[in-house]
Amino acid sequence: MPNLAAPKPRVLLARRIFPDIAARMAEAFDLDYADDDQPLSPEALRQRLQGKLGLLASGTEQITAELLDACPELRVISLMTVGHNNVDLAACSARGVRVSNAPDVLTETTADFGFALMMAAARRISESEHYLRRGDWKQWRVDLFAGADIHGTTLGILGMGRIGQAIARRGALGFGMKVIYHNRSRLAPEQEAPIGARWVSKEALLREADHLVIVVPYTPASHHLVAEQDLALMKPSATLTNIARGGVVDDVALARALQQGRLAAAGLDVFEREPQVHPDLLACANVVLTPHIASASVPTRRAMCELAERNLLAAFSGRPMPSLLNS
Ligand code: DGY
Repeated sequence: MPNLAAPKPRVLLARRIFPDIAARMAEAFDLDYADDDQPLSPEALRQRLQGKLGLLASGTEQITAELLDACPELRVISLMTVGHNNVDLAACSARGVRVSNAPDVLTETTADFGFALMMAAARRISESEHYLRRGDWKQWRVDLFAGADIHGTTLGILGMGRIGQAIARRGALGFGMKVIYHNRSRLAPEQEAPIGARWVSKEALLREADHLVIVVPYTPASHHLVAEQDLALMKPSATLTNIARGGVVDDVALARALQQGRLAAAGLDVFEREPQVHPDLLACANVVLTPHIASASVPTRRAMCELAERNLLAAFSGRPMPSLLNS
């Protein structure tokens, strides 16, 4: 039985979300809602967090040890994203701050988008649409925007977590692709068998893939995991799709490989310095660029917000948080 006389926990909702979910949160919490199009600056975040016990944030607010020390009352951080590289988890754990993220609810939607981006890059969809809109289309030609096939080719997946496996299923079962992957740990044989997935070294993955899709979490160990020397191993006819985090790929080296014809095309939803995109990438026609929207279907973005809300509600009512990241 909730104690109706008890004050509501003070919570900062740091990003604009769906109005009905925000309204429901305002019933459960003493809510400070940053209902603004712009993310809070680090200084504004620090100020708005004063006296708050909880924070609902996205993947862009930087949660550092300094911020935690400046906001000592903060006890719970609930992220509406699955990626949590913006949070210093060790610093949170050391200060007894519990952190949750939003896994699972976005897996299939993100895999759909990763697949679409890979196909758009391979079949030159953005490039050809721009050509048409510019009024350059004068005639049908046998080689007009001829790209790479998807069906029957080799799909290489770097990072075989939930999203990687969902992409592998699409490739193997929907498009007859041969699936190879590289991951720190191998899938169990019963997970590999239905999609015919084969674990290979990172070098073999880069050499053999016709289409490489990057879905590895961003950590200090995965910074520039795909750099100049790795791109040099790829087939000139191959494509690279990144829906993980920008820092996993060296954007400048990638732009160079695309410009020099050492890689056919790329699909990028994430960038090293979001929301800035490196001018060398902007200058490449053979790259499809999207603004970090892989999980952005309406039902999935709602589900992400609702899972973040459930984590906060659980934390403040003494129940286990559904997707706690630390203890
Ligand atoms: C995630 O959930 O991590 C997506 O990349 C959105 O930021």
